[in-house]
Formats: sequence, structure tokens, C-alpha cells
Amino acid sequence: MKRYVKIFTYGCQMNDLDSQKMYSLLAGHGCEATDSTKKADVIILNTCSVRQKAYEKALSNLGRLLPYKKRKPSLIIAITGCVAQQAGSHILERMPYVDIVIGTHQLHRIAEIINEKAPGSGPVVETSFSDCIPSLDIIPESRFRESGHRSYLNIMQGCDNYCSYCIVPYVRGREISRDYRSILQEVRQHAATGAKEIFLLGQNVNSYNGGRTFPQLLQAIDDIDGIERIRFTTSHPKDMSDDLIACFQTLDKLCNYIHLPFQSGSNTVLKAMNRNYTRETYLSLIDRLRSSRPDMAFSADVMVGFPGETEQAYQDTLDLIERVRFDGLFSFKYSERPGTQAATLVDDVSLEEKLARLRNLQEIQKQITIENNRARIGEIFEVLVDGTSSRHEEQVYGRTRQNSIVNFTGDHSLVGTTVRVAITRANPNSLTGEAV
Ligand code: SAH
Ligand code: SF4
Ligand code: F3S
Repeated sequence: MKRYVKIFTYGCQMNDLDSQKMYSLLAGHGCEATDSTKKADVIILNTCSVRQKAYEKALSNLGRLLPYKKRKPSLIIAITGCVAQQAGSHILERMPYVDIVIGTHQLHRIAEIINEKAPGSGPVVETSFSDCIPSLDIIPESRFRESGHRSYLNIMQGCDNYCSYCIVPYVRGREISRDYRSILQEVRQHAATGAKEIFLLGQNVNSYNGGRTFPQLLQAIDDIDGIERIRFTTSHPKDMSDDLIACFQTLDKLCNYIHLPFQSGSNTVLKAMNRNYTRETYLSLIDRLRSSRPDMAFSADVMVGFPGETEQAYQDTLDLIERVRFDGLFSFKYSERPGTQAATLVDDVSLEEKLARLRNLQEIQKQITIENNRARIGEIFEVLVDGTSSRHEEQVYGRTRQNSIVNFTGDHSLVGTTVRVAITRANPNSLTGEAV
């Protein structure tokens, strides 16, 4: 019996990749992907719980599936990802119509669990952790991947850093690295099927230790023919080794861009966050990266309103932002997560104050982003074309090695190719140019 499956995905790129893997596993077991919620026989919510808002959204989206279940009692509703891991069987107390809860280490069993589920049998909850994560080695079928020319790859999962505010170590488990041979084999396979860009994923990629160090892994990927670009996310400042910094100078394919979260510019707050670096060491890292590669571009994550964040501490964060001049920032207001160390602290910055600090920070960053973009007018960049614009049919868009988005005149035939583009205009979040 063929079943239609629809997956809703929330959260980080890890979850995007996990969903691609689930579609592939299910396609091998008689399921077909559909965009229609109505038509679906299996609906999977792949969730994120990094902030309370994301957690609540997952549960309210589950709630919205109830009418579908009433209309079609054979519908299978499954929840996967970080909310599934965090809440486990508690989900069933609130939503007894949920059929399957699968945690972050059990993803590889999705097809088997769905297929073995007999009508009318009770719910299945599988949230145990294990020492190896088989889903890391699953290669999604190309039709479920983001695009033919960019391949996301897991190189590790989990985190041992225990930043005091963060739930990830509890929902993704301890840090586990994938064997480098499996990674290289996958890269070769992607290269053979036309991938130009390899995007390595993990919660903390620069502490990778799957038989090679992270710089050694990058070197080995750099040697694989057909690949033009290598990117990775996320890195932790405390694990930025000299060898890794040198890679930005020595490896041709490694893009001159890094996402390097700093979270706060205040040493008191960084200490309370258990980040294991100071604002001085972070700024010196940025300097060393710029020395290694003068045209290096930066983005980061930052948080406001961590417990005890004084006005001065907040100003220290703004000062760091002004010094580095990131191309872009992902900024959040602190959200208390159950079971974390920071949840024992008094959440003493009022919601109003958090919102005001966040708005002000975003305003400052907006100005820096546009100024950085303006400085690129007149320069020529290599753009790997991702697609045609949804608003202007005769326009295509893609990314430079520095990760800027560039729009220029062109047609669908350019998708997946690299074009040299001269920048003519700076927009708030992108550039416009002309092919040269
Ligand atoms: N492993 C990555 C990503 C972690 S989650 C890293 O270490 O950077 C992505 C971002 O969400 C974090 O960088 C942090 O800025 C933010 N975040 C994590 N926990 C949070 C919390 N409790 N409240 C607000 N933002 C949080
Ligand atoms: Fe969370 Fe810190 Fe690990 Fe990132 S490094 S996932 S913020 S605990
Ligand atoms: Fe969210 Fe889990 Fe990713 S909490 S950010 S989906 S690792």
C-alpha cells in the first residue's frame, strides 16, 4: 500500500538535512512525498526547542493536526527532532492522538516504526540515546536535497560544551563525530553527481574528531575533484585552532566566510554563559582570521538579556559588534530552557528591556550590513547561482564566497553554474550586479 508523507521542518540546517533523510528512508519503504497536508497518510513534525517560542510552536502545530486525524483516523502523526527528544511521552499526555515520538538518535528507524505500526495499536515512543547515531551516515536521495549543486553533510552531532543557557546538549546528546572515511566517501559521491559546494554541519564542527582533526578533514575534502566550495557551521571560538585559521589561507576551496557566534561582548556574561573565552580572545581571533585571509567575511549569533546582563554589559556587546563589523547577525533575546544551568539564575532583565535591547542592536547591525554592502559596489565576485527570482523572471540569485546574496539578470540555465558578477547596487540584505 502506497502512503503519502508530508514533513514539516523547523529549526536549524541539521533538521533540514534530517528531513531530507527521512523522506529518503520513507521513499525506500513505499511512501511518496506530498505537499498536501490533506492528502497525507503520514505527517511528521520535525521540531526545534532551542527557545521556548519554538517549543510552543511545535506543540501548537501538533494541535492543529487534530482535525485531520478526526477526518482520517488512519492518519499517522509523528513528532521528531528536539521537542520530541525533550518532551518524549509527555507529549502524549497533552495530545493522545499523536502516534509516534522519535528522538534525535533514533531517526534511522522512522520507516520501520511507521510500517510496523498496526492500526489501533498504542503510540510508540523511541527517545533513547546511543553511542553511535546511524542516521549520520544516511545519504539523502538527490531529489530530496536542497539543490543539485549544494550538498549538506553531517560530520557530527551533539554537543559537550554545556553553555549555561542551551538545551542542545540535552536534546542532541553528547558530541559524536562521524568517521572521516564515511564523510569523504559521501563527498566523492556528491562530487560525482554534480555537487559544487560542500556544506559541513554539526553543532560544534571545529571540535570534530572522527579519526582526523577538522583541519585535516577540510584538507582531504579540498583535494576532491569537482568540488568548488567548502563551507561549515557552527564553530565555537574556543576551538578555533591555529591550524584551522591557516586553512583559510591554504585551502583554495574553503570559502572566505565564517559564522562564529560570540553570544555576548561582556566578559562577566560570557563567564556566566560558560563560553570559555573572553571578548579579548574573540577579537584577537577575528584579527588572526583577517590576517590569514584579508577579505574574510563574518556573521555570528548574539543574545541579549541573559540573567544579570547590566546596561554596561549590553554596551560591551554593542562595542564588539562595532569593532568586528559583521556582515550579518542572528540576534535573540534570552529564553529560559528547563534543566539548563542558567534556569537556576533569576531571569532579571524585563521582557520590555530585552525587546528594547534587541531592537536597538538590530538597528545598529542593519546600518553596518548596508555599509559593508555599499563597500562592495564596483567589485567583481564569483557567484554560484542558486535559482531564479520569484518576483523577477529574468533575474537569478546566488551567493558569493563571502556568502553575500547577489541578484543579476540571467535565466534558469545559469542555476548551478559560477558566474563573475560586478556589483552595481547595495540592498539592505543583498547585492545587485551585472554578469561580466
Ligand atoms: N551550536 C551552535 C548553535 C546553537 S543554537 C552554537 O553553539 O553556536 C543557535 C543559537 O541560538 C545560539 O548560538 C544562541 O545564540 C541561540 N540560543 C541558544 N540557546 C538560547 C536560549 N536559551 N535563549 C536564546 N537564544 C538561545
Ligand atoms: Fe549550545 Fe553552546 Fe553547544 Fe552551541 S556550543 S550547541 S550554544 S551548548
Ligand atoms: Fe533547534 Fe535542535 Fe537545531 S534545538 S537549533 S533543531 S539542534
